[in-house]
Amino acid sequence: MNRTSELYPKILEAVRAIQSRTPLRPQVGIILGSGLGAMAREATEALHIPYSEIPHFHGMTVEGYSGELSIGKIGDVAVVFLKGRFHRYEGYPMDEVVFPTRVICALGIHTMVLTNAAGGVNTRYRPGDLMLIEDHINLMYDNPLMGPNIAELGPRFPDLTEAYSRRCLESLEQTARDLEIQTTRGVYAGVLGPTYETPAEVRMLRTLGADAVGMSTIPEAIAANHLGVRVVGISSITNLAAGLSGRKLTHQEVVENAKLGAGKLQRLLQNAVPRLADIHAGSTAGAQS
Ligand code: HPA
Repeated sequence: MNRTSELYPKILEAVRAIQSRTPLRPQVGIILGSGLGAMAREATEALHIPYSEIPHFHGMTVEGYSGELSIGKIGDVAVVFLKGRFHRYEGYPMDEVVFPTRVICALGIHTMVLTNAAGGVNTRYRPGDLMLIEDHINLMYDNPLMGPNIAELGPRFPDLTEAYSRRCLESLEQTARDLEIQTTRGVYAGVLGPTYETPAEVRMLRTLGADAVGMSTIPEAIAANHLGVRVVGISSITNLAAGLSGRKLTHQEVVENAKLGAGKLQRLLQNAVPRLADIHAGSTAGAQS
């Protein structure tokens, strides 16, 4: 069996199943990280589809709750949300980790917003801070594009000079200023997990130029870039990375602190999405003239 040659028809099958249930054709995709799931319920005209009802999606995440894809509107903009992501550390191969990402890109979005909970490697960061991702360092020792290239998705050797759109990043910063929400810019290091880092690894990450560390986002950012979709990323800082606080890290602390940044992040995105759609409209108008 050749998994790669079967992948593209599976993506199209999932796309058709979703499109048959709603007339909305989303422009923006948002992947909701830990503690940020409530946002999908704020969309208007929304349809919520459990992953178990979408062909080739996994029904359950390892934590035991069902993932959900939602399509609705923020203002006038049709948006698709993914709540519940699959991580490499759960044992899924990379093409399964990014399958939902590829499906929502294939729904026709032009911009993808990736959110996550992350540990602060930069010693100035505090739980509840929002870091806009300006670049990443892939330390997962894996890549969703490994294996034969699927030409229908994108090129063999995609450029990642601007893996996170600078224009969209600046637009998010402007929106944050308008709302008086403080943000910083930083570099996200993606590690495999599921262990948190050792203090020596955190010092290494700082030396490498990382500001935050987490176990997600990079596979999705790569898959979306491959498909030619603009990417923005936002980390909600949940904890100081190992060794920086003098205390041990627990998953419970991470989950509870995710709530600290969730309200701000939701308000930021609600206001940023219409502007992200305007950026795209502006860029295509320019291309046509
Ligand atoms: N390390 C890795 N992933 C994380 C962390 C961390 O400290 N916090 C939230 N996700």
